[in-house]
Amino acid sequence: MEKSANKRKLRYGLVGCGRISLNHINALIENKNELEFVCVADINVENAKTLLEKSEMEDLFGKVKIYKTHQEMIEKENLDLVVVATESGSHASIAIDCLNKGINVIVEKPMALSIEDADRMIEAAKLKGVKLCVSHQNRFNKSIQKLRKALEKDRFGKLFHGVANIRWNRDESYYKQANWRGTWEHDGGALMNQCIHNIDLLVWMMDSEVDQVFAYTKNFNHPYIKGEDLGVGLIKFKNGSFGIIEGTVNVYPQNLEETLCIFGEKGTVKIGGKSVNKVEVWNFKDNDKNDNIDGEEEPPNIYGFGHIELYKDMIEAIRKSREPLVSGVEGKKALEVILSIYKSSLTGKPISLPLNKFSTLEMVNKKNNEKN
Ligand SMILES: NC(=O)c1ccc[n+]([C@@H]2O[C@H](COP(=O)([O-])OP(=O)(O)OC[C@H]3O[C@@H](n4cnc5c(N)ncnc54)[C@H](O)[C@@H]3O)[C@@H](O)[C@H]2O)c1
Repeated sequence: MEKSANKRKLRYGLVGCGRISLNHINALIENKNELEFVCVADINVENAKTLLEKSEMEDLFGKVKIYKTHQEMIEKENLDLVVVATESGSHASIAIDCLNKGINVIVEKPMALSIEDADRMIEAAKLKGVKLCVSHQNRFNKSIQKLRKALEKDRFGKLFHGVANIRWNRDESYYKQANWRGTWEHDGGALMNQCIHNIDLLVWMMDSEVDQVFAYTKNFNHPYIKGEDLGVGLIKFKNGSFGIIEGTVNVYPQNLEETLCIFGEKGTVKIGGKSVNKVEVWNFKDNDKNDNIDGEEEPPNIYGFGHIELYKDMIEAIRKSREPLVSGVEGKKALEVILSIYKSSLTGKPISLPLNKFSTLEMVNKKNNEKN
């Protein structure tokens, strides 16, 4: 990105105009003083047209160009920021093409489906001196920001353990929306798709490198997908604390909750709600009178409002030449835990981190997943 970009709006392009793209459009509108909406790319051009019509973009930004491929888009337009919101299996290659061209990238979660691809993305951003941000927008939930501040002020004292529960429902109609869902090549199972946000939060809050992971995964009730619909995992952190993960899309008949609990010697916090957007328990030894429990948001869906703040943070990161809150290095942490869970479920053994090499593709041959 040339230096003069600091004074003008950042030229923005979106790759992938499916379900999550509306959240990006919303974040774009909320940041329209900073971003110029130049173009979109989608291999299904009809999806791009529908998105632009539905969101009445041209009334706000003028003509937005449509491309069929991201390659043509980044070749023809002089972009500063590209958002990658395609199926998960294509994130790494599209992001790397953009980064190699010197374009800053926000990539949807999971950033990649292998350690090697995540490393390649981080390396490409570093080499080109551009920013890479992973869309773990729940880090910006009011409740989560409040929890993180309490942690940074050391209000928990010694951390004992943290628990991430994701108790959701995804039925056949969800998976039939697109044939990439639930495949090892392009998605993964419930942990990689639905639970990765809360795993990201758990690892962020426990504030320590992961030492070991042990886990079981199983597909109980979704014979039409390859990935797991339930995963249970244990994490041993290097600071001596533990993490527990329970993630499922089997909950009958609808989403129940997504909760994060943190337990320390001087504090207990439970963030709950449909998607970690509500402070349910807030107990600290150093009870502060000004410590109101307000941290609740009522987002219209489980994706929340976080994309707006994630964009603001990334724009500032680009302008001020600092790392975004959810950089590539940060985004890789949850991916590494999930790939370690998969490896543990494959081998029946605890996995020591760092995981130097592993991909969801290694799960393709997992025999009789449901009988394990
Ligand atoms: N952050 C969140 O909370 C959140 C929520 C939902 C989905 N996601 C992630 O967003 C991504 C997209 O999910 P979705 O539900 O919108 O999927 P989707 O299938 O609804 O949309 C994907 C779109 O990308 C297009 N596409 C696919 N490959 C492409 C390519 N190579 N180049 C250009 N366009 C391409 C498809 O035609 C489609 O329009 C997934 O990785 C998913 O994990 C994130």
